[in-house]
Amino acid sequence: MFPIRRNRRLRTNETIRSLVRETYISPNDFLVPLFVVEGSGVKEEIGSMPNYYRYSLDLLKDEVKTLWSLGLKSVLLFVKVSDNLKDNKGTEALNHEGLMQRAIKTVKSVCPDMLVMTDVALDPFSSYGHDGIIENGKIINDTTVEVLAEMSVSHAEAGADFVAPSDMMDGRILGIREALDQSNLIDVGIMSYSAKYASAFYGPFRDALDSAPVNIQNIPKDKKTYQMDFANREEAIRETEMDINEGADIVMVKPGLSYLDIVRDIRNSFDVPIAVYQVSGEYAMLKAAAEKGWLDHDAVMLEQITSIKRAGADIIASYFAKDVVKILNV
Ligand code: PBG
Repeated sequence: MFPIRRNRRLRTNETIRSLVRETYISPNDFLVPLFVVEGSGVKEEIGSMPNYYRYSLDLLKDEVKTLWSLGLKSVLLFVKVSDNLKDNKGTEALNHEGLMQRAIKTVKSVCPDMLVMTDVALDPFSSYGHDGIIENGKIINDTTVEVLAEMSVSHAEAGADFVAPSDMMDGRILGIREALDQSNLIDVGIMSYSAKYASAFYGPFRDALDSAPVNIQNIPKDKKTYQMDFANREEAIRETEMDINEGADIVMVKPGLSYLDIVRDIRNSFDVPIAVYQVSGEYAMLKAAAEKGWLDHDAVMLEQITSIKRAGADIIASYFAKDVVKILNV
């Protein structure tokens, strides 16, 4: 006899499907990455990220207002630093009048309630495109952590709500938490890129910031001595547990789509908010396929974003944020 249970009953039409749907996307899910450059009147499209731009501070204001009007209330700031300001130690990162510090103030000046998170890592400031300081052919951990902690305090003093260390040095969450607390910045949070993989999907982002790592003193042109091996799963749990114990308020898995097993593992293991970063290469792939007419852009975009949330993400950092909320009927 045919089974009593017919699963297709719950798929008969959109009304019943929406009644039993498990995962919904809303503007509250998103964290919007923004790229900032010096100058005025600058809105430059990033070659490998169609329809995504670098903004000078004046135009950043308009973009932030647009985001707010769409219900997008959190941004993640990145800066593109000119070559002459880069050095091995990322000295410019600590400049209180630096581009990041001014960008934070700019966002808060036009939109005081916008939640501002900042990227904390040396690569945009490093002449070698690495996330740490290089000494004797090595990326040195503990000195780098000291700089990251100072950088975090500087961002927080400029008005950042959260700092987001993306460097993968050991012990940086504790170093940053202690530095913030010592400066009485106790309400400033930390979103840790806790399970960040050494991924080839970051290519377009490195174009956006001109921050690709170079081959220097035996250090290869990759970040495999600090970012995680993409073959590893258990290690992501260890990394995340350590970051939580060191004081991370939010943890992150990055990239997104290829790592949804990790997202689910972490969701099942820890009771903290999880962010997933759908990275630049993921954005570029869909834009390219859609340009060729090979994929339906909006349909694939919604499927991917929903998959990330279904896997266990509370927060999705995505270059698609604006595109998604424009087509949501919420
Ligand atoms: C650097 C950083 C990277 C990204 C965010 N922060 C690149 C890298 O680690 O080389 C990648 C984001 C993306 O690809 O969208 N600390």
